[in-house]
Amino acid sequence: MTGKKRIVSGIRPTGRLHLGNLHGALDNWIQLQKQYECFYFVADWHALTTEYATPGAIRQNTREMVVDWLSAGLDPEMCTIFIQSEIKEHAELYLLLGMITPLPWLERNPAYKEQQVQLDQKDLATHGFLGYPVLMAGDIIMYKAQGVPVGKDQLPHVELTREIARRFNFMYQCEVFPTPDALLTEVPVLPGLDGRKMSKSYGNCIYITEPEDSIRDKISKMMTDPQRVRRSDSGDPELSPVFAYHKLYSSPAEVADIAEGCRSARIGCVECKKILIRNVLEKLGPIREKRLQLEGDVSRVEEIVQAGNEKARHEASGTMEEVRNAIGLRRGWN
Ligand code: TRP
Repeated sequence: MTGKKRIVSGIRPTGRLHLGNLHGALDNWIQLQKQYECFYFVADWHALTTEYATPGAIRQNTREMVVDWLSAGLDPEMCTIFIQSEIKEHAELYLLLGMITPLPWLERNPAYKEQQVQLDQKDLATHGFLGYPVLMAGDIIMYKAQGVPVGKDQLPHVELTREIARRFNFMYQCEVFPTPDALLTEVPVLPGLDGRKMSKSYGNCIYITEPEDSIRDKISKMMTDPQRVRRSDSGDPELSPVFAYHKLYSSPAEVADIAEGCRSARIGCVECKKILIRNVLEKLGPIREKRLQLEGDVSRVEEIVQAGNEKARHEASGTMEEVRNAIGLRRGWN
């Protein structure tokens, strides 16, 4: 025990990391490494709840995701990185928690209905999809986490996790599980190229490991203030997704200069984007380099994941002993 508070978080391996993920979840994870004892994992079983009919990409995405995480700055010396499906204890805990979770708790989960509507090409009327939050609750309480860094959309799941943990302790008159808190960190929302939320399904992403030319091309074609039609028109930087990027990638002096230059029509959109391209490429440079280096060293990545899996498995098997004892299934047999 390190005396640091423990946190757990996972990401589903549904695709490569884009800038929205980087500045949303990952930058936050990287910050938290210093302060907390962190368990970060690839939630590949969770991906299967929606991708069960086409699981082929999950494995590849899982690998790529770990490499992206390491490239962006997760440090295996400071946090534990593991793959959910490699720790079979998650399946056992999921099963046992499923026994005590009342069906209405799952049916009233807003994500359940919303996703069924949004992903209407998929049949999500499955046991696995309904049970998504039970699996997630298991992920979290398995490590007796005190905190769960997540985005707003995941708050109902964390709330359910707290209820399930309390119910377990109450039902089996034990104190195996602490109730975890959501760690909601305000992260800047980075719009996609078209100004909507950056999302793979909208096709408006910039990926962190995309070739430089492609990044240049995408930024050059980005939407700007739609009311600034001619170069001589003055613009409103707050209406341009390009400016949202400047706030993340450019220096405060540049940001101030660009804002003023846009309002007074001193700077045109082409020039503004050129500055952004330079700054984005400069920031992504080290990530890209790290990635190239890791791609050339597959066994190092493999080692990191193996070590993480082992550490997680050790923790998980300890918790599961307590869980089995609390339920008392084996009492008197050995
Ligand atoms: N449901 C989360 C998401 O879609 C991923 C996830 C699975 C998770 N298990 C978790 C996040 C445990 C935090 C803790 O983003």
